[in-house]
Amino acid sequence: MSSTVYLNGEFVPYEKALVPVEERAFLFADGIYEVVRVYGGRPFDLEPHMARLVRSARELRLPEPDCEGLTRVTRELIERNQIQEGTVYYQITRGFHGPRAHAFPTGNGAPTVLVLTHPLAPEKLAEHERQLREGVAAITVPEQRWARCDIKSVSLLPNVLAKQQAVERGAYEALFVRDGFVIEGSSSNVFAVLDGEIVTYPACNYILNGITRQRVIRTARELGYTVREEGIPLAALSRCQELFLTATVTEVMAVTRVDGQAIGDGSVGPVVRALQQAFREAVQAL
Ligand code: PDD
Repeated sequence: MSSTVYLNGEFVPYEKALVPVEERAFLFADGIYEVVRVYGGRPFDLEPHMARLVRSARELRLPEPDCEGLTRVTRELIERNQIQEGTVYYQITRGFHGPRAHAFPTGNGAPTVLVLTHPLAPEKLAEHERQLREGVAAITVPEQRWARCDIKSVSLLPNVLAKQQAVERGAYEALFVRDGFVIEGSSSNVFAVLDGEIVTYPACNYILNGITRQRVIRTARELGYTVREEGIPLAALSRCQELFLTATVTEVMAVTRVDGQAIGDGSVGPVVRALQQAFREAVQAL
């Protein structure tokens, strides 16, 4: 079944959803995006994702997204494409303006607004469940991104290259190391359990403040854990009890090996299990 896509105010078949070659995202990666998880046909944490989209738009001086309109579009696409388990992808860019020139175009060109859905195949979901149970491997890579990683921009080349390195080394994620601290993954936030406390890099310009990260910090505190927003020293990895990732599709995922070395006893630990269970309950309450 061909899916329906929302592009610039219209619902169109996927094959017909096309943008001009001098679209500024194609030329300059001049745009922002969001990814929302759909569980049982319902979008999860849509509101905070929309709020972050608005913030990203402001930071790049793009027109303010119409969140109410996008919320209606989200429900309509989930319905039309019969998404039970899947994702919704939103992208807003500065639009088409030829001929190519770096500075913002003058005149009244419109942004490009795209919303896509993707179902998650049963095999992928089963593989994800296995990874949640058993944990995954990660590698470390030097930070090579710009100093505005708080903006969810489609300019993701260092993330793409880092993830590819992880894949080629049989790992699930690449962890960026900046000034000796593990700050975040190529498409996830990272947490450690150190001396019984949960530690994660503070929300600042060097990381994306994940919606899942914020939810997990809140939940962990409700469960009675101490959460410190501080850097995880690379040198401390060898003595941390647990290490885990959070992100929209990833959820709460234990990292049991980094660069070939076991984390803790190499199995999924009790803090991750408690946070996974709380996350599952939040999804079930949707
Ligand atoms: N990535 N850090 C980075 C660099 C990310 O790209 C992501 C998410 C996160 C986690 O954010 P959230 O919990 O809001 O999903 C942290 C998305 C899912 C992606 O690029 O596909």
